[in-house]
Amino acid sequence: MDFENYLRANLPIVESFHPHYKKALKEMMLCGGKRFRPALVFAACAGIAPELVESSFPAALAVEMLHTYSLIHDDLPAMDDADLRRGRATLHKTYDEVTAILVGDALNTHSFYVIASSSLPDQTKTALIETLSFNGGAGGMVLGQALDCHFEGVKLPLDRLEFIHIHKTAMLIAASLKMGAIVARAAEALRGELYDLGLKIGLFFQIRDDIIDATEDEKSAGKSVHQDDGKNSYVTLLGLEGAQERLDRSAEEIRDKTRSLPCDLRATVSNALKGYL
Ligand code: IPE
Ligand code: IPE
Ligand code: MG
Ligand code: MG
Ligand code: MG
Repeated sequence: MDFENYLRANLPIVESFHPHYKKALKEMMLCGGKRFRPALVFAACAGIAPELVESSFPAALAVEMLHTYSLIHDDLPAMDDADLRRGRATLHKTYDEVTAILVGDALNTHSFYVIASSSLPDQTKTALIETLSFNGGAGGMVLGQALDCHFEGVKLPLDRLEFIHIHKTAMLIAASLKMGAIVARAAEALRGELYDLGLKIGLFFQIRDDIIDATEDEKSAGKSVHQDDGKNSYVTLLGLEGAQERLDRSAEEIRDKTRSLPCDLRATVSNALKGYL
């Protein structure tokens, strides 16, 4: 089965007399998205145990679901107040804030249901749940988002901006590579190596996102842009040229680190990064 079909078949289906809850639950999962985090899960798994790639679908779906929840909440009026996401009106615009908040909550918890109800070995499930909740939760993505929003309008030094970006974005991206390695039953050392590489990829990804916010239009980005004008971002702190330089340096570091991976992994990870680096 292909991953998009698996995703469609494993979204929450909830019957009730609510007029739009059922539709809203699926909408942001189905309206696009680059599926970058699933691609990293698959790359790690394929480079270690290619025969287990289909078994990594629950892990890939879980991380994409948790990520989608983070986007829905990120766009809320209390956070970034954005109207467009994945080429569509944001959920709070299409429906209302209550729906967007609750769909986010539902996708967050359902991501763990997807792993827990899969047929993976219990030990694998526990490690996946631990990794996703640690990196996507209280001291990971959520902390990054809390800092990002709290310090809106207050100029931070660069090391603090990096801390925010590592937490709000890079930890979930690092978790994606690690989750692929967990399904592939990789040794602890290789899981750690992939996680560290994932942190670098995640920082790169958020710097690139900061540049997109400043340079692209809504149509090409598929989301609201110029959201960072009053925020700490690589562009607002370093200027466009400085951010681009930092991005290039970051890409070089990733290429260097990727070279030290075992040969098969080097190929699958490089392939997942094609079009980004
Ligand atoms: C957007 O993530 C939010 C960031 C962490 C930069 P993506 O750029 O992966 O968004 P989708 O999943 O393709 O919509
Ligand atoms: C969001 O960062 C990171 C998340 C945890 C969702 P941004 O606020 O820059 O993401 P976009 O630009 O809205 O996609
Ligand atoms: Mg944000
Ligand atoms: Mg945003
Ligand atoms: Mg952004």
